[in-house]
Parts: sequence; structure tokens; C-alpha cells
Amino acid sequence: MSFNMLKGKKGIIFGALDENSIAWQTALVAKEQGAEFVLSNAPIALRMGKIQELGEQCDAKVIPADATSVEDLEKLFSEATEILGGKLDFVLHSIGMSPNVRKKKPYGELDYKLYMKTLDISALSFHKVMHVAEKQDVMNEWGSIVGLSYIAAQRVFPFYTDMADAKSLLESIARSYGYRFGKAKNVRVNTISQSPTVTKAGGGIKGFDVFFDYAEKMSPMGNAPADECAKYIVSLFSDFTRFVTMQNLYHDGGFSTTGISEDVVEMILDAKAREDEEKKDEE
Ligand SMILES: NC(=O)c1ccc[n+]([C@@H]2O[C@H](COP(=O)([O-])OP(=O)(O)OC[C@H]3O[C@@H](n4cnc5c(N)ncnc54)[C@H](O)[C@@H]3O)[C@@H](O)[C@H]2O)c1
Repeated sequence: MSFNMLKGKKGIIFGALDENSIAWQTALVAKEQGAEFVLSNAPIALRMGKIQELGEQCDAKVIPADATSVEDLEKLFSEATEILGGKLDFVLHSIGMSPNVRKKKPYGELDYKLYMKTLDISALSFHKVMHVAEKQDVMNEWGSIVGLSYIAAQRVFPFYTDMADAKSLLESIARSYGYRFGKAKNVRVNTISQSPTVTKAGGGIKGFDVFFDYAEKMSPMGNAPADECAKYIVSLFSDFTRFVTMQNLYHDGGFSTTGISEDVVEMILDAKAREDEEKKDEE
């Protein structure tokens, strides 16, 4: 349903690959709420993904940019403001990738070159996006910038390896740049810490199904789906959240503040009962 929450607002949405992507869902909701925007993704994703389809659906231009390249970002921001005919009110950074996670390297055996890539793609690119936006002075007063994080920034999830470090850095960058942009232009910067979500980025993690199911059982509301995350992001782009800044905001159905749930207890009791049965059979 449209409340025209983003009527008259312009922005850039990074990271839509296919319809499962959080950025894809956000583009659909932003469009429905009256926003105009440019879509961007890495050149390889433009070749492999379906972003042009989304562009047609949202009447949005698609501009390739490797978010680790300041040069690409400079071109993107100047083209986007030209196409949109003015400065920006929102930017979504929905970018993450770890070659170490893809190669299933354990945390103690990370390839350091790849580690640097993970940090560059998944965290430093957030700094670069804001650095270019600031230098080109493309943000409107009371604009909003959002990045996506995961609770592995605060708690250990062994299979998330160097992505956990990248997410900690991402959240720190949101605070530091949020201070700077808040002072300069009343622009807010936040990260949303989202539930495990079935997407290309999520699917690359070893044991993803297990921690998806575990989070589902731990959260009183279950895992938050991508389309609901999109609505939360749009609320942060709207004028209803102007003084929310420098925060890491959980969108996780209650996972982050639940110690243990009845569902998890039941799961453990079931497993224990099966173990006891097996032992009995062996005796
Ligand atoms: N899926 C989950 O379980 C989950 C949970 C919490 C947070 N997140 C975060 O949400 C964000 C979006 O991921 P998603 O789950 O929608 O998956 P996704 O795979 O659909 O999106 C990740 C995007 O990053 C883009 N990307 C990778 N390298 C890039 C580069 N160099 N330049 C520009 N773009 C690049 C990819 O092309 C892709 O579109 C990521 O930051 C991810 O870490 C995901």
C-alpha cells in the first residue's frame, strides 16, 4: 500500500542482484512509496544478474560501479544527480561479499589477500560511498544513508569468518561518518542488522541452512524476511525518522535479545531423546 512516504525523494540503491536481494525488495517498496532512484551494482553483477529487469519495472536507470573504486563511485554519483535532476535524499549500501567465506576458509586459515578484499567490498566501500557523496556535496539536508549488517558483528558465528570483522567495521564506519554527516548536513547514517535471509550473499556461507533454522527457532517472531527489511529501510529514508542516526538497528524478529527459546529447548530435548534411544539399541 502506498502512503507516499518517499514522494519527491531521490536516491541511489546499491546491491540488487535478483528478486531475493534485500536491495531488490527495497527498490520495489521505494518505488511504491513514490521515490525516484538510480540502481547500481558491480559490472559483473550487471552481466550475471537481472538488475535491468528491475530497472524497467521501477523506471530506474542502472549504472555500473564497483563500490571499491572511488573513480567508479565519482562517475556514478555525478551521473545519478544529473539523471535525477537534483541532489539525493537517500542511499542504500546493500553490498557484501567474502572470497574467504566462498572458499570455506576457517577463521584461523584466512587468506590475507582475500581478507583485505572482504573488508574493502563489505566495509570500506561504505566509507568510499559516503566520502564521494560528501566531496561532491550530493546529499540534501535531512538525507539518510543505510548499510546492512549482521549480528556476527557482536557475537561469534564461526562460519561467518572474516565477514564478522567486516560487519564490525561497517557499523563503526556508520557511527564515525554519521557524526560527520550529521554535523555537516543533518544527514543520518545507520546500519540495519538483518536476520539470516535466503539470498546469494547469505547462501554462500557454510552451514547457512542451520543458522537460518536456528535463528528462526530462537526469534519469537521468526526470521525477518527481505520484503519486511525493505519496509524498515524505507522508513529510515522517510521523514519520520529524522533524528535516528549513528545506530545499529536490529531487524531480527527479537533474536538479538532472546537468551533461549522454547523451540530451541524442544529441539535439544528431541536430539537428546534420539541419542538415548540409539545408546539403548547399541547396548
Ligand atoms: N542474506 C543474509 O542472510 C544477510 C543477513 C544480514 C545482512 N546481510 C547483508 O545484506 C546486504 C545485501 O545482501 P543480500 O543478502 O541482499 O545478498 P545479495 O547477494 O543479493 O546482495 C549482495 C550484493 O553485493 C553486490 N556486490 C558485491 N561486490 C560488489 C562490488 N565490488 N561493488 C558493488 N556491489 C557489489 C553483489 O553484486 C550483490 O548485488 C549485504 O551487506 C549482506 O551482508 C545479509
